[in-house]
Formats: sequence, structure tokens, C-alpha cells
Amino acid sequence: MLYSQYLYQDDKPFKTTIRNYNASDFNQLIDIQKECFPPPFPSDLWWTKDQLANHVHIFPDGAICAEVEGELAGSITTLIADNHGEDHTWEEVTDNGSIGTHDPNGNVLYVVDISVRHKYRKTGMGKLLMQSLYHLVVHLQLEAVLGGSRMPGYEKVKNQMSPQKYFEGIITGEHNDPVVSFLMKAGRSPIKLLPNYLDDPESDDFGVLMEWKNPFLEKRKHFF
Ligand SMILES: CC(C)(COP(=O)(O)OP(=O)(O)OC[C@H]1O[C@@H](n2cnc3c(N)ncnc32)[C@H](O)[C@@H]1OP(=O)(O)O)[C@@H](O)C(=O)NCCC(=O)NCCS
Repeated sequence: MLYSQYLYQDDKPFKTTIRNYNASDFNQLIDIQKECFPPPFPSDLWWTKDQLANHVHIFPDGAICAEVEGELAGSITTLIADNHGEDHTWEEVTDNGSIGTHDPNGNVLYVVDISVRHKYRKTGMGKLLMQSLYHLVVHLQLEAVLGGSRMPGYEKVKNQMSPQKYFEGIITGEHNDPVVSFLMKAGRSPIKLLPNYLDDPESDDFGVLMEWKNPFLEKRKHFF
């Protein structure tokens, strides 16, 4: 994958290139992880060079980054999974981030991670990275983009309501979650809560299963 387009920051356009990442990007990708997942997020979940080497080796098409003026601004990583909406954890579906579970015969493009440097947030960068997956899912003729979203905004209200109530409130617009609401604005639809999805104190370890269906495939079955 390789294409460029303009994004805007403070009314000024800047060119952003979407491309597959490779070994020469690993140091910058790890820096982005450190910046985007600060404590209380567990540092042992940041990418290691071994994991990144697996992404590039096992499913190079699904290892995507955004570059601005020669520097990385964000990344999105995926694998192909055979998942029909059943409950799962991030660790089991992604082989703990090493994507040994990648199944070329699977039905969905599964999102392992998305992150954007602070400097480029709210410029449409995250949306652009997500859109690159919509291109990929159509190109690969898969059924959907699927993945578990963090819901870090839950931490602020966890003493007042259940995770399910918070989840429903995001969908009605009563609550604005930094990740789930972003993904909804980027085209993904929330399906259900996944308990014990990820070691993620801010989300009380919950994930929100979210999909984007390939509009060009006739559904053989309704899975979700
Ligand atoms: C989530 C993240 C990738 C969003 O990236 P971004 O480049 O700022 O997102 P965009 O600029 O493309 O935003 C798209 C839309 O979502 C909205 N949005 C972005 N961040 C938001 C937030 N914190 N709260 C609510 N809405 C948000 C934007 O306002 C924009 O809305 P619009 O379409 O109405 O203009 C980025 O904040 C990030 O890297 N977070 C930390 C890592 C993380 O938790 N990743 C998720 C792993 S599951």
C-alpha cells in the first residue's frame, strides 16, 4: 500500500503518506508506542522489535504507518482472523501481539493496534489510518474490519455505573470515549462488550467489539 494525501492542522495542509512499515521504522514505531500508551497502560504491551519483525514477515500488507516529512506520525497493525463475533481476548486473537495467529484463510481483518503521535492528533490522521484498512479489506475481499477497542473513558465514571451502562451511553452520545467515540467517527460500529479483553486498568479490562463491513461483499451469512 502506498498513497499520499493532505491533512490539515490549524488550517494548514500537510502531506501524509500511508505505506507499509519495514525494519528501518522499528525504532520510531516503538517511540510512538511509548508516547501513546503511558502508564497505567502496562509497558510490557508496547511493541518489541521481535513482534514488529513478525508483523512485517507474517502479514506485510497489514503493517501500515503514516509518514509526514520523512518521520512517522502513527501506525496501524492488523492480521487476518477467523472470527464470527464470538468472545475472545486480545492476547488470544493476536498471539499476544506477535500475530502467530494470522490465518490467510480467515474472514476478517482484525485490528491489533492503532496509535497516532500527540503532535498529529485531531488532524484526521487516525481516520486516515482506519480508512487504509477499509481499502485493504475491500482489496482482500474479506467480510469486515473487526477489533476490540479500548474504552479508557470508563475510568472516570466507574464508581457511578456498570461497563454496560457506559457502553450504551457512548452509543447514545451521553458519554464521549477517547477511543470508542473516535472509532465511531471513523466508521466503525460498536457490537458488544468483551470482558477481560486486555490488561488495561483505564478500561477496567473491557474491550468493545467494533466492525466495519465490506460493502462490496454479499453476505453469505449474518454473523454479527
Ligand atoms: C485514538 C487515536 C488513534 C485517535 O487519533 P486522531 O488522529 O487524533 O483521530 P482523528 O483526528 O482522525 O479523529 C477522528 C474523529 O474522532 C474524534 N476524536 C479523536 N480523538 C478523540 C477523543 N479523544 N475523544 C473524542 N473524539 C475524538 C475527532 O475529533 C474526529 O472527529 P470528527 O470526525 O468529528 O472531526 C489517538 O488518540 C491515539 O493514538 N490514542 C492513544 C492510543 C490508543 O488508545 N489507541 C487505541 C487502541 S484500541
